[in-house]
Amino acid sequence: MSNNKRILKLGFLGLGQATSKLLDRRHEIDGLPYKITAAADLRPHARDAFVREFGGQAFDSAEALCRDGDIDVVYVATPAEFHREHVEIAARHGRHVVCEKPMALSIEDCEAMIAACDKAGVKLLAGHTHSFDAPIREMRRIIRSGEIGDLVMLNTWNFNDFNHRGRLLHELRTTHGPILNQGPHQVDVVRQLGGGMIRKVMAKPIRDSLSQAEGGYICFLEFESGVPATLVYDGRSQFDTSELFWWTSEGGLHRPPSTNAKARKAYSEWRSLDETGLAAALEQDKEAGRYGAVIHSVDKEAGIPPHQPFFGLTVVSCDHGTMRQSQNGILIYGDGGPREIVLERSLRGRAAELSEMYRGIVEGKPIFHDGRWAMATLEVCQAIIDSARESREIAMTRQVSTND
Ligand SMILES: NC(=O)c1ccc[n+]([C@@H]2O[C@H](COP(=O)([O-])OP(=O)(O)OC[C@H]3O[C@@H](n4cnc5c(N)ncnc54)[C@H](O)[C@@H]3O)[C@@H](O)[C@H]2O)c1
Repeated sequence: MSNNKRILKLGFLGLGQATSKLLDRRHEIDGLPYKITAAADLRPHARDAFVREFGGQAFDSAEALCRDGDIDVVYVATPAEFHREHVEIAARHGRHVVCEKPMALSIEDCEAMIAACDKAGVKLLAGHTHSFDAPIREMRRIIRSGEIGDLVMLNTWNFNDFNHRGRLLHELRTTHGPILNQGPHQVDVVRQLGGGMIRKVMAKPIRDSLSQAEGGYICFLEFESGVPATLVYDGRSQFDTSELFWWTSEGGLHRPPSTNAKARKAYSEWRSLDETGLAAALEQDKEAGRYGAVIHSVDKEAGIPPHQPFFGLTVVSCDHGTMRQSQNGILIYGDGGPREIVLERSLRGRAAELSEMYRGIVEGKPIFHDGRWAMATLEVCQAIIDSARESREIAMTRQVSTND
């Protein structure tokens, strides 16, 4: 079927932890052909591993990849502080871009990235968001259909070990712990479900005494429609939301119940080291999860994970029913008790993104999760920080609608 279709050529910028989870040896997603042809990284062993595994081109800089790579699209998976520079380089060389979350670390940077891509006439897709997950999209479809009445409120909770696994001190400082790193997932999920347009945000981060960074947050927000939502995140490896969810992991695999306790114990031991020892232990822990240092944690050729991805407990309350995810789809609690809708597992988050990118580039369809969508998400995440600092509600000015 896909024989006559154009093959989309992908280059990866940054072969770190994120990339170790997403490099995929399949040549087709959702019936659309693509090929990983090039990558760039500063770590020579990661480049060597890439050439061994994919046989593609490997470069030691963003500039070289974007200038000389045999690629249509650059997947930017470098640390957040480089996203603006790297997206601008890609645009300058006429490459389409998928950019990892967070899109950037400031609204000003987001604006510059959007302007650079608009000027170059290339697509910019906000990569890696759980709002692409099939259960979230199905719940949005049901809200839109009105089957169970109007949306009345949204609540989402995620408790896990974010701060204590594979995070450098510098990284936690740059992203305010999970606020700018994991916030984009929760905010995207809630914006997708509620239609995108948030009016105001009130929030307060919490402190993690172990990593001495922000450990999470509580956020109350209101949509233009008046629908309220709460977002709760706690990455201090105490309680684990997966316990309420058949121990399903973020990726739809089994999450061992000992995960949080192990992360916390290891981090507590590192904390007793001096500054140099702590930095070395954290770097070692980070490197262990990067591409080139490990065999993929998930063997992509082994197939699709057994369950839907799970990014915390999201409860969607409508006039005549309430929805949440099940392991394999969604549950709707309405008149007559809960019923389950089982969903297809093949087109998961990142595959759905690549499929959207393919259709945007090759078939000229609009990209939904584009730079403006990601900037609106970052505006909310930034407001979580500003609201607490300024002790007030922050009004949103850059929101965009789901337009569905
Ligand atoms: N760690 C995760 O599990 C994860 C998951 C999803 C998304 N992300 C996102 O992915 C991005 C990267 O995070 P990470 O955890 O993978 O970081 P990382 O440090 O593991 O990986 C970054 C990689 O980029 C390379 N790099 C840095 N500067 C470069 C440059 N100028 N040119 C070429 N390569 C360069 C580094 O050598 C490293 O291999 C962040 O935006 C993060 O939010 C991370």
